[in-house]
Amino acid sequence: MAADRSSELAADLARLWVGRNLDELTTPAAKYLTTGSATDWGMATEIVSAVPPITLGGGIPDPATLPRQALAAAMARAVDTPELDDSPLRYGGPEGFEPLRELLAERYTRDRGFPVTAGHFLLTNGSAGAIDQICSAFISPGDVIITEAPTFSGTLRTFRGHEAEIVPIGMDNDGMRVDDLGPLIERLTAEGKRVKFVYTISNFHNPMGVTLSHERRNTLLRVAAEHGVFVLDDDAYGELYFPGWEAPPALSAMSECNGVISVGTFSKIVATGLRVGWIHATPAILDRVTRVRFEMGNSPALQRMVYEFAKDGHLDEHIASMRKVYERKLDALCDGLREYCEPYLSFRRPGGGFFLWVELHNGLDGLEVQQAAIAEGLIAAGGYGFYPDRKDPGNHMRLAYSWVREDELHEAARRLAIACAKVAERHSADSK
Ligand SMILES: Cc1ncc(COP(=O)(O)O)c(C=O)c1O
Repeated sequence: MAADRSSELAADLARLWVGRNLDELTTPAAKYLTTGSATDWGMATEIVSAVPPITLGGGIPDPATLPRQALAAAMARAVDTPELDDSPLRYGGPEGFEPLRELLAERYTRDRGFPVTAGHFLLTNGSAGAIDQICSAFISPGDVIITEAPTFSGTLRTFRGHEAEIVPIGMDNDGMRVDDLGPLIERLTAEGKRVKFVYTISNFHNPMGVTLSHERRNTLLRVAAEHGVFVLDDDAYGELYFPGWEAPPALSAMSECNGVISVGTFSKIVATGLRVGWIHATPAILDRVTRVRFEMGNSPALQRMVYEFAKDGHLDEHIASMRKVYERKLDALCDGLREYCEPYLSFRRPGGGFFLWVELHNGLDGLEVQQAAIAEGLIAAGGYGFYPDRKDPGNHMRLAYSWVREDELHEAARRLAIACAKVAERHSADSK
């Protein structure tokens, strides 16, 4: 009886809702962001390859060496508290599990040379969640964010979602072209705009793989501070350097956190599915972020699991072994590219991270090669998706080598060479 009445109600409601235009109720961001994906590379889904594809698509850790057992044991320890202690399974507060924030503070103090405390860290839903929360605290519609071009497409999406105006600044092999920064901020300010952030991926940049030089770090910090603009440093990959790498000092340490908001993550050094990241900034800045944190913080159980996994030097051991894995993979990819792709492209080997950025030659276009590669059984991103205006001035591809099996990387290079050859053939046929 009750069910009948409710189905009558549901039918009435369906009639009332069927003609409503959902867009009338939607925020501007939910209207113009037409996908929920952080990586919108315009892959042609209708193209099918005859062979199972090799994916050099995303910045995801090596699946074979994920510390599955250690994480499972860590979760068991995390929730196995005395009967009346429900803390791992109870609301945890907006800052996040204090021992994990202390662990981060100890590692930052040790590795970066500027002493910080748990109060300089706030735990978030990955670094993407960190950037979203920072925008909630500091970005109003119309505020300007200066981003490197190219940059991580997922963050561009976040900035768009917060209705910021994105203004690009160029890059080269030493990172952001900081000499252009002062004049750019001054021009924007003269136009009546409020520049809030300069967003940089300072170490092993996504997608370019380059690292901002020490000298440019000085300039960036000084120029941004002189104009009252925050440096937002997305340091997702800084710990994944290869042996022999001489890391420049961290922006947060150089500035002693003055005017710098950094974000970090366990996604790349452990696993993306953890969704545990952090904001590193002064307690005053973090206070502003917690004020607009409406989702009651992230999972205390997961944060405790990560802590149980990471403590007593285990995180350091894991990262040390992963550096070797990724270096071997990068070498395998570079060897394959040298063997098969030499006429079509060139590249500069990065000192760490997950990405190799290749420049296509002879007018080969990143989008065309991306589509041709799918047909050959290779998924990789054309460079254009990483530019705020989706225009790649130099014809690039981003090859992510972290996730794929090491023994597939040589074959990946062979498939890329075939794709390049087919596009080149098509170009020469078209020009006849
Ligand atoms: C530069 C950069 N920032 C942030 C993210 C998002 O990572 P997380 O899983 O920590 O949210 C990624 C992921 O690819 C990235 O490359």
